[in-house]
Order: sequence, then structure tokens, then C-alpha cells
Amino acid sequence: MHSILILNGPNLNLLGTRQPEVYGSETLADIEARCRDKAADLGIELAFAQSNHEGTLVDLIHESRGTHAGIILNAGAYTHTSVALRDAISSVELPVIELHLSNIHARESFRHVSHIAPVALGQICGFGSAGYLLSMDAMLSHLTQKPPS
Ligand code: DQA
Repeated sequence: MHSILILNGPNLNLLGTRQPEVYGSETLADIEARCRDKAADLGIELAFAQSNHEGTLVDLIHESRGTHAGIILNAGAYTHTSVALRDAISSVELPVIELHLSNIHARESFRHVSHIAPVALGQICGFGSAGYLLSMDAMLSHLTQKPPS
């Protein structure tokens, strides 16, 4: 059975109350519950984590090696600033899908830069919380080399 880590970065613990017009009104716990239901449907194992700390995110990426088959990463603002996260992804050589609730390309110019994108399998953004579920389909499709059903 494949195991996937969904990893969330800074401020995503505030979903539900944080700028709902941008990020929606679901909490991170609501999103986790939907991801867990989908994981059960897909027959995969799911780990779900959030940290506001860059080093903790780096540690969790390192620990994924040998534990998880792939990572879905919403790195929040660290997407736009963190060479350390990019290097961690390159170091573990696991498939990583970069995920954002909002369409970062339609927002402020500083959000158009992603340090994650060049080392990611691909990027999903702009679909709100549905992006988490779409990313799971995309990851499983990549891992099994089968298109999503
Ligand atoms: C985000 C987009 C980032 O630019 C922002 O800093 C976030 C959330 C998103 O999910 O849309 O914290 O990653």
C-alpha cells in the first residue's frame, strides 16, 4: 500500500478564519478529514502534518525517505522564500507535488516565484481545498503510472 504525506506550512493552521475570501472557510481539520476519506477510497495510507517552522518542515521531508512514496506540499509563504525546502526536496529524491489553495500566479508578484516548482513533479493551485484531493489523484496516478479514474 502506498503511503503519502500531505505537508502544510506556515499559517495554514489558521484556515477557516484566515482570509476566507482567499482561502475558503474550511479548517485544516476539515480538509484533513476529506483527504482521509479519499485515502480510504483510494486504498492508500495518509500522513497529514502542519508546521509553522521551516526547519521542522525540512525534518519532515527528510524523514519521509523510506517512509512515504511521495509528498504533497503546501509550503505556504516558504514556497516563495525557502531554498532550504527546495534543497530538502532535491535531497530525498521523492516525488513532490506543489499545492496551493489560491492561484498564486493571479496574486501579488512575489507569489509568482516558487523555489519548489523547479524540483516538483508539478503544481496544482487555484482550486481551493479541492486541490488537496486532486493532488492525491495526481500522486497516485504518478506512483502507479495509471491515469486517475
Ligand atoms: C498558499 C499561497 C501562499 O502564497 C501563501 O503564502 C499561503 C498559502 C495557498 O495555499 O494558496 O500561505 O500556499
